[in-house]
Amino acid sequence: MMISAPIDTSVLPAIDADADTDASASTYAYKNHTSVLKNEVLTYLTENIKSSTITNASGGKNNLIFADLTFGGGGHTFSLLERLSSIIDENINVQVIAFDQDPDAISNGHKKISELSLDNKIKLIHSNFTNFVSYINSQHLEIIHDFSGILLDLGVSSHQFDTTERGLSFKGNAPLDMRMNYADNSLYTAGHYVNNLSEKELVQVISEYGEDRFAKKIASSIVKQREIKTIETTSELENIIFHSYPQKFRYSRSNNKKHIHPATKTFQALRLLVNNELNVLKETLPKLFDLLSNNGRLVCISFHSLEDRIVKQTFKEIKEKNKENCSILTKKPIIPSEEEIKNNLRSRSAKLRVIEKTEGGANDRKWSKSTYP
Ligand SMILES: C[S@@+](CC[C@H](N)C(=O)[O-])C[C@H]1O[C@@H](n2cnc3c(N)ncnc32)[C@H](O)[C@@H]1O
Repeated sequence: MMISAPIDTSVLPAIDADADTDASASTYAYKNHTSVLKNEVLTYLTENIKSSTITNASGGKNNLIFADLTFGGGGHTFSLLERLSSIIDENINVQVIAFDQDPDAISNGHKKISELSLDNKIKLIHSNFTNFVSYINSQHLEIIHDFSGILLDLGVSSHQFDTTERGLSFKGNAPLDMRMNYADNSLYTAGHYVNNLSEKELVQVISEYGEDRFAKKIASSIVKQREIKTIETTSELENIIFHSYPQKFRYSRSNNKKHIHPATKTFQALRLLVNNELNVLKETLPKLFDLLSNNGRLVCISFHSLEDRIVKQTFKEIKEKNKENCSILTKKPIIPSEEEIKNNLRSRSAKLRVIEKTEGGANDRKWSKSTYP
């Protein structure tokens, strides 16, 4: 269930409507992020692409266009370009439009793109992907139905989790920030919500975005504590949540025997609220299908059940509306292999779903006249 009323909307973040905002405010050196389900993503994005099926009536150099709306460390994009270079003729120019709302991902990305001399292939933009469709509409109408593939690899990166100062993890002590776009001062931080939402709103956020059965107790402890002193740091909040849990559940384990810290779900809930993640996904996902060329694919990786439910449901609705030219390629979501999970524990909750625009849709996968980027 999505949070609707009755959270006071005056404390919800405004979504920046402009793409290409300034990312010069990047503060933190980029930490590594291992791309999840990389091989599977590359296969879905490229398996039906062959130079011979791309026709170019007018001759000359043209473009095959992709979008990576969650660029992160760029692992999926860089590998996609590499994979495509082994599949298609060199006179086909592949271009990727990439978005990320994190200033660190943008400055690190620009550096890497330049080091790899890929400036003519990747256009990296600092923006929330909720702005992507309007960006294409206003700046690149000529490619509005030309996307061969669009990738969403949702949630936060390892860089964001592992940079203590970002306040996303309770493993270190830092101010309660949690904004993926910390350069945007119009967004409220987690600290703002923790100290300003009513108890009822806190219960709603923690139970609906965190699915924590002890939401009421946690909310009540937060309210009691903040009457004594403003809650400022991740450690303070972690401590309050830990002691809100009944003693026998403080060290409980999940089915795979992993210890789930009591603060995990509340931290997830606050992060989803601060970044308005589920609403942005719900709002954007249905619009992306329209941007695909024939045989173009929308590939989506989610990391928890709330996200996956939205992806699954939205794909169903897209299919319902586009019966003639749409196919859901993943009847069940694709999940990482045991080996991938062993090598990268953070991949364990990933679920990949793919939808394709089939023949009869807008444009065939085709040459674009664009000189983009
Ligand atoms: C899981 S990481 C992506 C990792 C990337 N695929 C790679 O291989 O390195 C998710 C990234 O998406 C970004 N992100 C999440 N939601 C976003 C949104 N609504 N708009 C733009 N970027 C977003 C985050 O800032 C983060 O860098």
